[in-house]
Amino acid sequence: MTAPAIDVRDLHVHLGASHVLRGVDLRVDHGEVVALLGANGSGKSTLVRTVVGVLEPTRGEVDLLGHRLGDDVPWQRVGYVPQRVSAAAGVPSTAAEVVASGLLHGRRLALPRGWRRLAREALEQVGLADRAGQATGQLSGGQQQRVLIARALVRKPELLVLDEPVAGVDRPSQEAFAATMARLVDDGLTVLVVLHELGELAGLISRAVVLRHGQVVHDGAPPRPHAEHGSREHEHVHPHTSEVPVVGAHDVGLSDGPLLTGEQEARP
Ligand SMILES: Nc1ncnc2c1ncn2[C@@H]1O[C@H](COP(=O)(O)OP(=O)(O)OP(=O)(O)O)[C@@H](O)[C@H]1O
Ligand SMILES: [Mg+2]
Repeated sequence: MTAPAIDVRDLHVHLGASHVLRGVDLRVDHGEVVALLGANGSGKSTLVRTVVGVLEPTRGEVDLLGHRLGDDVPWQRVGYVPQRVSAAAGVPSTAAEVVASGLLHGRRLALPRGWRRLAREALEQVGLADRAGQATGQLSGGQQQRVLIARALVRKPELLVLDEPVAGVDRPSQEAFAATMARLVDDGLTVLVVLHELGELAGLISRAVVLRHGQVVHDGAPPRPHAEHGSREHEHVHPHTSEVPVVGAHDVGLSDGPLLTGEQEARP
């Protein structure tokens, strides 16, 4: 029996004075696509940031691909897309450069041979191949978000952790992203994705986990969008066990820059 892709046990995380995660258990098996839902401030980002090693647990355990969080985790097999894109980056990196940074791992700083082609292929997957040479600062918020998705995809991960990947991304690009994800999931990709609405990804989600005040209050079938809302713009999520807010465009552009690393972020 292979170890789960993600195995979180009795996880507690404190940030500043607040006890944000209060005993979270979460297991994601290989090939699953799990949506993480919950109101603003319920702890979704804190959970995924702890899972990818950006934040440290105050109690409990996290295993990733069969290894306890730390140097033993094969990080090159893990892709991560953080929430929010910094609108104004000081350094005018091109889209291709930002994507290629997703190829760096371990203690190596050199990009592998053929990185331009790999970056271009990843940008194609998010519909931005024609923008490879453009400075990311000149891209719109939604396009920058798609560059971050390409950056996570370029290493061809087997586990992908995404924090609201389609917030601020228009409907056609969401559809393109869902099609790309469907292909990757078909090939065996495991996904943990924070969402406010299942939206275009609904067909891919095998399970939903709902957080409320830092605890899991639902783990099972994905909630169904209410039929009476009718139009696709109103495809919100209404699980019975928790209030999942009806939120449209998220506050994209506030804090996390595209190249932030764990060292810079850990421990406020
Ligand atoms: N650095 C920090 N110091 C203290 N409290 C923090 C810090 N970062 C987050 N928090 C608090 O932790 C709680 C959970 O935040 P988190 O970002 O995980 O929520 P979320 O579910 O991702 O919300 P959203 O839907 O808005 O993205 C919030 O109440 C937030 O105020
Ligand atoms: Mg969040």
